[in-house]
Amino acid sequence: MNYLKLCVLLILPCQIFAEQNCFANQTTEAFIEMVLGNITAGSSYVLPVDNSKLVYISPWQENITYDFGTFDFIIVGAGSAGTLLANRLTEIKKWKVLLLEAGGPENDFSDIPGMSSELYVSDMNWGYFSIPQKRACKGMDQSICVCPRGKVVGGSSTINGKQYVRGNKADYDTWEEMGNPGWSYKEVLPYFIKTENSHIDDGDPRYHGKGGLLDVSYAEPTIFTSVFISGKEELGYEVVDYNGKSQIGVSRVQFTIKGNKAASGGRAFIDPFLDRRNLNVTVNAFVTKLLIDKDTKTALGVEFIKDGRKYEVTAKNEVVLSAGAINTPQILMISGIGPKEELNKIGVESLVELPVGRAMEDHAVFFGLNIRSNQTLFNESIEIFLQNYLNNHRPYTAPFNVDSFGFINVNDNESSVPNIQQTVGTPPEGTPNEWRTTNLNMELIEQLEELSNPYNDFIIWLVLLHPKSKGSLTLKSNNPLDFPIIDYNYYEDDEDVETMLKAIKESLKLLETAAFKAVNATYVSTYNICTNYTEGTDDYWRCMIEYLTTTLYHPVGTTRMGKSSNDSVVSPKLFVHGMNRLRVVDAGVMPKIPSGNTNAPTYMIAEKAADEIKSYWIGNEFKP
Ligand SMILES: Cc1cc2nc3c(=O)[nH]c(=O)nc-3n(C[C@H](O)[C@H](O)[C@H](O)COP(=O)(O)OP(=O)(O)OC[C@H]3O[C@@H](n4cnc5c(N)ncnc54)[C@H](O)[C@@H]3O)c2cc1C
Ligand SMILES: *[C@@H]1O[C@H](CO)[C@@H](O)[C@H](O)[C@H]1NC(C)=O
Ligand SMILES: *[C@@H]1O[C@H](CO)[C@@H](O)[C@H](O)[C@H]1NC(C)=O
Ligand SMILES: *[C@@H]1O[C@H](CO)[C@@H](O)[C@H](O)[C@H]1NC(C)=O
Ligand SMILES: *[C@@H]1O[C@H](CO)[C@@H](O)[C@H](O)[C@H]1NC(C)=O
Ligand SMILES: *[C@@H]1O[C@H](CO)[C@@H](O)[C@H](O)[C@H]1NC(C)=O
Ligand SMILES: *[C@@H]1O[C@H](CO)[C@@H](O)[C@H](O)[C@H]1NC(C)=O
Ligand SMILES: *[C@@H]1O[C@H](CO)[C@@H](O)[C@H](O)[C@H]1NC(C)=O
Ligand SMILES: *[C@@H]1O[C@H](CO)[C@@H](O)[C@H](O)[C@H]1NC(C)=O
Ligand SMILES: *[C@@H]1O[C@H](CO)[C@@H](O)[C@H](O)[C@H]1NC(C)=O
Repeated sequence: MNYLKLCVLLILPCQIFAEQNCFANQTTEAFIEMVLGNITAGSSYVLPVDNSKLVYISPWQENITYDFGTFDFIIVGAGSAGTLLANRLTEIKKWKVLLLEAGGPENDFSDIPGMSSELYVSDMNWGYFSIPQKRACKGMDQSICVCPRGKVVGGSSTINGKQYVRGNKADYDTWEEMGNPGWSYKEVLPYFIKTENSHIDDGDPRYHGKGGLLDVSYAEPTIFTSVFISGKEELGYEVVDYNGKSQIGVSRVQFTIKGNKAASGGRAFIDPFLDRRNLNVTVNAFVTKLLIDKDTKTALGVEFIKDGRKYEVTAKNEVVLSAGAINTPQILMISGIGPKEELNKIGVESLVELPVGRAMEDHAVFFGLNIRSNQTLFNESIEIFLQNYLNNHRPYTAPFNVDSFGFINVNDNESSVPNIQQTVGTPPEGTPNEWRTTNLNMELIEQLEELSNPYNDFIIWLVLLHPKSKGSLTLKSNNPLDFPIIDYNYYEDDEDVETMLKAIKESLKLLETAAFKAVNATYVSTYNICTNYTEGTDDYWRCMIEYLTTTLYHPVGTTRMGKSSNDSVVSPKLFVHGMNRLRVVDAGVMPKIPSGNTNAPTYMIAEKAADEIKSYWIGNEFKP
């Protein structure tokens, strides 16, 4: 199946004859035109290879530094954490808060959940890639996996998969045990609840918030939702609220969506509050380094570039870095905070030695478990999908058309902590750039187009929740122009491959259930690889695992929190060790990756940080 061909066949007639009332309703017609315009733009969009557009200074401005004034707080990055934190800090009327964001605003296109992957091929993505991987990403061009990151108000929450997953009780109890008082599950649960406005009717009582700013809802179920849930029940799993009492089991996905629209950090925490006079959101502003008083090791402010001019801005109280797990470490290292040895290599004078960028963790995902059924879904044109979308119907109401999760522990079936997340969705229909956005190599794209049947297939994505292998983030140079060097380093530890292998075998048991048999479900490879092994053998799967594993887009831990500057970058109060008036509040501070997607935990971190900051500067104890 050739998606581009499909497009040409199905779209063009409508575009050409748009005037002849292809769609009765003018608004719908304009909407469809907007979407198709963006998809077309995406298909020829060339990702940047560095930040040259952002660091550009007009020649006649090169020796001028403009003063942007003084604020009580400067927050760098309007992503998941930055948007929420800016909202909470501006609840204190006397605080003037500056939120600096390198990207621009969100728009109607980025509001469509099902188009999220299309945003990877737009200027809402920084455009990072990993370095070539040895044991994973082998199906990708040069064994290089993508590393999309949002460069837009909302940050990665704007381009992400909208899956709302808090993780496991044990994750946070472990954070605390690792030397982070205040971060146990009991203490962080109220922060998860505070953020949330849940529309999940059958959620566990006392685990959900109803009055928060972040809408969380189910999307319309699909045929595969009931097939998967019934199949799992036959295997002995219970239907659970995975954000509630028990995570192990099978569930429908809870999404950060409001009606048919994405509920990003920008939409939830910024847009409705732009009338706050103490909130200044400045977009298209690329922060290039910290301004530091070197004698006292105090953060004074930041330097940034906007519209061809260089600015300095100072903070009376604190600078907070919320630039995410990839960019925050870059800003720190360029400013002299990082591993001495690394800073030496790039000619940066070391101010505070800290393990910045070490021990990066991410969730690897195996995307090769393609299940063919005899059910036909979504065999329609993009135009029909979009009309259905406007009435809140699939497939575009949820990214990747995902709808159900299984959380399992393939090493210990009695454990309450999963090590694998099964995520069920369908191959892309009508999102023609989707495969391009994964860096899948041409040969495999062709095989996929030939062998996959998007109308009958579904995929069980398998996510390795607690990898033994650690990645790293280092810098090419001290120039903010250069992209960081990202090494996921998946599967360096054999045990990670073996866990994934067990996950595949456990998932294949579903094919024996009555629910899967009722739709004549079979495993069908959509790639002609690893055919030198007998299909279904352990070595066949190990080969497939190395080819068909990519990132689930959850890098964390590059500025992890902990007690000691030996093995952590920030304190449990999120202050950068050895520095004054400088905190990090983003996904990078997670000391250990949680048992699920990382956006909800990032919001939790920002909620807690807001109370820490308020308590520190105001003196009373702020509690959720
Ligand atoms: C494609 C994708 C899919 C994902 N799917 C899911 C999912 O379904 N569910 C889930 O829970 N999680 C998902 N995640 C992960 C989740 O979105 C992230 O963990 C979370 O958004 C991280 O938040 P953050 O605040 O740390 O960083 P971000 O949200 O990335 O925010 C960082 C912000 O800082 C800005 N910035 C960076 N550097 C600078 C600078 N120098 N100057 C100015 N501004 C700067 C960026 O532009 C960005 O807006 C996904 C992520 C991606 C990328
Ligand atoms: C993409 O969508 C946005 C938001 O609706 C719109 O402003 C823009 O013109 C579209 N881009 C293209 C290339 O059609
Ligand atoms: C900026 O300063 C440099 C070094 O002093 C000088 O060579 C250059 O001409 C200046 N540029 C402008 C636009 O004034
Ligand atoms: C933000 O602050 C800058 C610098 O003081 C100012 O020029 C700008 O108008 C402010 N923007 C808003 C929206 O207040
Ligand atoms: C999809 O629809 C087309 C046109 O109606 C039809 O020819 C084709 O067989 C359908 N595909 C499937 C898998 O049902
Ligand atoms: C766990 O696995 C063992 C051995 O296969 C089996 O006997 C037991 O019933 C399983 N327990 C659960 C809770 O599935
Ligand atoms: C079931 O699937 C098999 C293998 O794909 C196929 O040969 C067979 O025709 C299917 N049967 C039905 C009833 O769909
Ligand atoms: C799908 O296959 C099952 C099992 O072979 C069969 O009972 C069912 O009728 C088939 N359904 C369709 C729509 O072909
Ligand atoms: C089997 O084929 C894959 C490519 O499909 C290759 O990477 C692998 O090395 C081959 N294994 C052996 C033992 O030849
Ligand atoms: C940090 O490392 C140094 C040198 O390796 C060691 O002497 C010291 O005890 C460590 N401190 C902590 C708190 O672990």
